[in-house]
Amino acid sequence: MTCFPFSFRRKVSSPNKRFVEVDEEVSGISNVIMYTYKEMCIATGDFSPANKIGEGGFGSVFKGKLKNGTLVAVKVLSAWSRQGVREFITEINVISDIEHENLVQLHGCCVEENHRILVYGYLENNSLARTLLGGGHSSIHFDWKMRSKLCIGIARGLAFLHEEVRPHIIHRDIKASNILLDKDLNPKISDFGLAKLIPANMTHVSTRVAGTIGYLAPEYAIRGQLTRKADIYSFGVLLLEIVSGRTHTNTRLPYEEQYLLERTWVLHERNELVMLVDTSLDGHFDAEEACRFLKIGLLCTQDSPKIRPSMSNVMKMLTGEVSVDDKIITKPGLISDFMELKVKDEHKGKPYQSNHTSYTISSGSGSDKADTMPSTRETTSTYATMTFTAISDRSS
Ligand SMILES: Nc1ncnc2c1ncn2[C@@H]1O[C@H](COP(=O)(O)OP(=O)(O)OP(=O)(O)O)[C@@H](O)[C@H]1O
Ligand SMILES: [Mg+2]
Repeated sequence: MTCFPFSFRRKVSSPNKRFVEVDEEVSGISNVIMYTYKEMCIATGDFSPANKIGEGGFGSVFKGKLKNGTLVAVKVLSAWSRQGVREFITEINVISDIEHENLVQLHGCCVEENHRILVYGYLENNSLARTLLGGGHSSIHFDWKMRSKLCIGIARGLAFLHEEVRPHIIHRDIKASNILLDKDLNPKISDFGLAKLIPANMTHVSTRVAGTIGYLAPEYAIRGQLTRKADIYSFGVLLLEIVSGRTHTNTRLPYEEQYLLERTWVLHERNELVMLVDTSLDGHFDAEEACRFLKIGLLCTQDSPKIRPSMSNVMKMLTGEVSVDDKIITKPGLISDFMELKVKDEHKGKPYQSNHTSYTISSGSGSDKADTMPSTRETTSTYATMTFTAISDRSS
């Protein structure tokens, strides 16, 4: 990406309202393009609702056009870390330094007064959540070849974050709405590294995590143990979604089919995995490959994080370099017991308490080190107590 050192002096307010000079705060950081708030206003037509393209746990996203004509996605963070401007920009700098064909590129940011804005390359074809899983509202036809390419591309991007970037990055929020498609329908993972920018105990963070619960590895959801294996679990769920063309949870389906992962396991045990493949493909797919992908999804979502494969092994299995047939697949880790709480009216509006204990969901920065070394509360500086109230608001 284009890099230039900060050579201007511009007054900004740090979160503690002490005015500081930007170039003092960020000396030594040279990778991030800094945009002024005025530039952001011009690019997005004063953040006009007509330019709003989405809203996530971090804030609103607007389509924008920079002075040089480049189309961008402008993500306005609704809450930012309590860390200072320097730390904020240091994190941004790390993210913007990462370039890979399957990762969304961060162009730069705007840090001015209380505004914290991220500027990404604009991706023309929206997210997998809106297209493939959007309930027929997209004109894109995802044939089998394209799905296979999507799965491999996403795996490649995640393997890069997990195994090539130093220090490794755990995404924490792998899901269909964070997979964007460029003009040639290449998949790009978005929002990596963002969890570190968000403060603990923010309500919307809990909502975000709850909204993503179908992708959450049980050990992360229940015990706050965050390792790369939690991402691999989420990737497994996503893989099942891509092959089956349906979302991880669909309460409109008959009860036994509502949870995709449970359904996949049942069909696997019956040796009927092929029944899960998206019927909109009209039988035009490579059955061996599709069933292999479903088995890889099951391998990734096994209850024990230790036996889930690494992303580089997932890549080898997806491409057929390594066989899946000789692998023993154990039962998936399921948190459907928790998901079911959302339909229980008596819990509506109240934080969930189980009979035995209350649970927390880690949402803060954690150890990105070894897969077997979870980020515990001792090593995690920030984590939010998750109430299950938010789950009842989640649409299926
Ligand atoms: N770079 C981009 N190019 C085009 N559209 C984008 C881009 N980034 C985000 N979007 C759109 O904005 C929507 C909202 O994105 P956002 O990341 O804020 O929320 P989310 O992905 O649904 O949830 P989360 O906050 O957990 O990531 C996306 O689903 C996508 O449609
Ligand atoms: Mg997102």
